[in-house]
Amino acid sequence: MSTIEKFNEHVVQSYGRFPLVIEKGFERRCKDEDGKEYIDFGSGIGTNSLGFCDEKWADAVCAQVRTLQHSSNYYYTAVQAEFAGRLCEVSGYSAVFFGNSGAEANECAIKTARKYSFDKYGKGRHNIITLVNSFHGRTMATISATGQDVFHNYFFPFLEGFINVQANNTEDLKEKIDDSVCAVMIEYVQGEGGVNLLDKDFVDAVFEICAEKDILVIADEVQTGVGRTGKFLAGEYFGRQADITTLAKGIAGGVPMGACLMNEKCKGVLTKGTHASTFGGNPIACAGGLAVLDRITGEGFLDEVCRKAEYIRNTLGKCSEVEALSGLGLMIGISLKTKNAAEVTAKCLGKGLLVLTAKDKIRLLPPLTISYSEIDDGLKILIEILEE
Ligand SMILES: Cc1ncc(COP(=O)(O)O)c(C=O)c1O
Repeated sequence: MSTIEKFNEHVVQSYGRFPLVIEKGFERRCKDEDGKEYIDFGSGIGTNSLGFCDEKWADAVCAQVRTLQHSSNYYYTAVQAEFAGRLCEVSGYSAVFFGNSGAEANECAIKTARKYSFDKYGKGRHNIITLVNSFHGRTMATISATGQDVFHNYFFPFLEGFINVQANNTEDLKEKIDDSVCAVMIEYVQGEGGVNLLDKDFVDAVFEICAEKDILVIADEVQTGVGRTGKFLAGEYFGRQADITTLAKGIAGGVPMGACLMNEKCKGVLTKGTHASTFGGNPIACAGGLAVLDRITGEGFLDEVCRKAEYIRNTLGKCSEVEALSGLGLMIGISLKTKNAAEVTAKCLGKGLLVLTAKDKIRLLPPLTISYSEIDDGLKILIEILEE
């Protein structure tokens, strides 16, 4: 029986998968079971931020596995303390709650926003504004928060208390933001929604209106955070720091982790017993996270991310099939003139290149450590397919 047959027999079929079995990864390439090589422009949806099996990251994770793999949150560990401190130092936040995924980080943000408001104003101020076309996860709360009707099927009833506003429509925001609202949740660049960058004017309006009304701003930086855009947080491009920022994906280089960062105002909201996660802040994940932070805060690392992003964008800009490029830094959306993104993705796979889609765009989320020669090799494949 092949791996795919075995897999399909016992793994729930909730994903549309490509017929590729990845056996081994190294740097920014991986190999399938037959030894065929692939260049990675997807990094496991923005998660392998340092590429496959980066040596220093792997050493840190393995050393932690051999020291202490789990303790539970009944006790303290030095590695969680260290990672929390470094994360707050780099991001400018005051405290962090650790979970295991983006959805969990957002669950924590939603609970924190509601409790902040409940503690201060009592019941009834529980609504959260999210944007049309947003994506916040697949748990019942985060799927309810997600502003895309396509996800609002089968699982009724969805969690109430989410109001959708059109992205970049300040009038719509002003109309819907009333005394029932405790938070506005945004992605600076909508990832799954099609790599759409928010307008600065709209982001400014969100922050200004929220500040006036003591409404919290939650930035979902699960996809944009931890260096993906060339800044540690995408909010830096807007000169803004949300009350709460959520991170996951690339935060620990490929071991499961989500983080909900809180400012001074929100730090004390979740009190003993109000929120928890068995695996949250797991020592192995924290060790992976520290290795990622060490690298991306290194001298010139994020400037190099920006330069590589510019290089990719310049090269793609010359391709006759490219209609437009979107996103920020190494989060790149490619609108095509005539070709279908899903078909292009499948062809890339056939030629040894992993790329992603987002709605009708090709989406590139290469590892932050990708080299120029790997970029050249990958873009050659992509551009040949686009121009054929
Ligand atoms: C912006 C954003 N938020 C939340 C999530 C959910 O993250 P996870 O799949 O780790 O739960 C994603 C995943 O794609 C995302 O892009």
